Amino acid sequence: MRVAVIGTGYVGLVVGACLAETGNDVTCADVDAGKIASLRENRIPIYEPGLEDLVERNQTQRRLFFTTDVAAAISGAEVIFIAVGTPPDEDGSADLRHVLTVAEAIGKNLTKEAVIVTKSTVPVGTATRVREVVARSALHPFHMCSNPEFLKEGAAVDDFMKPDRVVLGAESDHARSVMAELYAPFVRTGKPIIFMDIASAEMTKYAANAMLATRISFMNEIAALCERVGADVDLVRKGIGSDNRIGPSFLFPGPGYGGSCFPKDVKALVRTARDFGVSLSVLDAVEDANERQKRRLFEKLAAAFDGSLKGKHIAVWGLAFKPNTDDMREAPSLSLIEALLGAGATVAAHDPVAMHEGKRRLGDVIRYASSNYDALEGADALVIVTDWNEYRHPDFGRIKSALRRPVVIDGRNLYSSERMRALGFIYASIGRALVADTVRA
Ligand SMILES: NC(=O)c1ccc[n+]([C@@H]2O[C@H](COP(=O)([O-])OP(=O)(O)OC[C@H]3O[C@@H](n4cnc5c(N)ncnc54)[C@H](O)[C@@H]3O)[C@@H](O)[C@H]2O)c1
Repeated sequence: MRVAVIGTGYVGLVVGACLAETGNDVTCADVDAGKIASLRENRIPIYEPGLEDLVERNQTQRRLFFTTDVAAAISGAEVIFIAVGTPPDEDGSADLRHVLTVAEAIGKNLTKEAVIVTKSTVPVGTATRVREVVARSALHPFHMCSNPEFLKEGAAVDDFMKPDRVVLGAESDHARSVMAELYAPFVRTGKPIIFMDIASAEMTKYAANAMLATRISFMNEIAALCERVGADVDLVRKGIGSDNRIGPSFLFPGPGYGGSCFPKDVKALVRTARDFGVSLSVLDAVEDANERQKRRLFEKLAAAFDGSLKGKHIAVWGLAFKPNTDDMREAPSLSLIEALLGAGATVAAHDPVAMHEGKRRLGDVIRYASSNYDALEGADALVIVTDWNEYRHPDFGRIKSALRRPVVIDGRNLYSSERMRALGFIYASIGRALVADTVRA
């Protein structure tokens, strides 16, 4: 099938490469000329396991093409994915400028009947707006489809290749049958394609992310209570996660959720609810709890230094908002570093893959360490923000001798509180029993 993917970010690139891998003829278009130039040379602008091989193989076999010419990508395509960004507008709603710009280009450049798919996360009603914009200039019939994406950064290729389910909101039999054919290779194990109307598909994506964000904020609040009452949130997590009705995923407390999706999608859903006069007070609380949580690591660290971090030098392990990605959008590391610098501390940071992104975002206000141990040199304390595998079993002796004071604030509960205490660390984590951690905030 001839496919165009407009927008070649995390989502567009994965969608394009995976659809090419199953034999389609895919052209990915983006307005970012630098990005397209690197992709043409098989240089992937993001860190995503497995993606580079996929892009290289499919470009070599001439099934995958990259261009800055959006019109050329659209012309001749039977399926056109819109995968551009939908950042939050000032009022929290999703900014649809890029989506509607692409819709206009699609209308002007359709050369045959096509299915137009909104892959970007867009509020209910967007497909209708896209349809109106396309219809203003389209000379060929077209069919709207909403196909929200559920991939996780860090496991994006796997998630797209083996989805739990594919959600398809379609308005015609033609759209349903074209999309079912396109996705057939990915659901051979019997995972469902769930067909629905377009509004429900658009809503499904927001509801899914809002539910996941809710679980995280819920557990972060339970963790805060565990600290006060002398319970251990890791045990509570296992205790509730083994209940089939609850399940074990997304119950890990931490430094607050971040990334390119949860914060903006929760905001956009709250905004939609407000526009329709519906109360989503649960999500207001989810956001509030997350904002508070993003300060927890700083507060715990400050408590270990009698409330003042002025002149202290702090090692930070982990910049990416989660492991296996270099994405730092809304990362908890950014809130922590901002608070540390604001309090008069200095920072040395390490991340296995997000150092270049850290430099791009933060410039030279912090030091970028060549290894996680290098970050400890001359540091008064260590804060762990991202649960990268390589931080799970460090050389504790080396950490202790490098730090000026053996203070470790563990935002991901990677280590045993008892062991850290036995090793002589001043240690704090998230939501573990009062008796175990040695620092309170
Ligand atoms: N990142 C994720 O994990 C994820 C997961 C599911 C859904 N989504 C949703 O998918 C959408 C894209 O997210 P992303 O993370 O890939 O964004 P991104 O910012 O990484 O990429 C968006 C790309 O679109 C390009 N673009 C913008 N305007 C354009 C135009 N007019 N023509 C062509 N290209 C244009 C940008 O240059 C950029 O490369 C968003 O709506 C997001 O919410 C993201």
